Amino acid sequence: MISHELLKWFHLMGIVLSLGGAILFAFGVFPALQLIEDKSQRMRILAGVIKYFHPLFLLGICTTFMTGAMRLTDLKIGFGSAYYASLGKILMIKFGLTTLIFLIGAGQCFGMGLKLTRMSNGVIEGTMERQEKLAGLIRKMTIYNVVLISVTIYFGLKLIPMIYGG
Ligand code: HEM
Repeated sequence: MISHELLKWFHLMGIVLSLGGAILFAFGVFPALQLIEDKSQRMRILAGVIKYFHPLFLLGICTTFMTGAMRLTDLKIGFGSAYYASLGKILMIKFGLTTLIFLIGAGQCFGMGLKLTRMSNGVIEGTMERQEKLAGLIRKMTIYNVVLISVTIYFGLKLIPMIYGG
């Protein structure tokens, strides 16, 4: 059985990976890409970054989700019948927010990201205008998730005094 401390560590490391990566991607990589004048090269470089960023982002979110869910078992035992009354509301909000993050992330990574990667490498057809539109949408989705993850952190922190007192 994984210790409570280790689960918490993984919960936070998942957040660090997904949120940190998303901020760097949206506010570091995209502005830097504007320095490249050749648009097709710009798209190929973006596709190269996406190839690593998207799996790492999904790994972070999945780790956070799984460790959060695993921690619930202990809490259900600890709180007994008071579990839903004490933590239920915040956990439901967190669960809803995480589902939304997953939905946006899945559309971005498995839909738009894969399409852009294949278009920029010439595997499937796609005009430069279409590729730029996809790139803009991918950035927008990333920013939505930066906001949603930050809001979820707020609710995560609200759980601490409820669980440990104070
Ligand atoms: C992107 C999604 C999420 C974010 C950003 C997030 C964030 C946080 C933060 C900042 C904390 C407080 C620090 C800590 O104890 O680790 C926390 C605690 C916690 N979260 Fe999450 N969380 C997310 C998803 C979830 C999900 C999906 C669940 C449940 C299925 C969950 C269950 C918990 C629990 C039970 C705690 C208390 C941990 C403890 O005291 O040991 N979290 N979360």
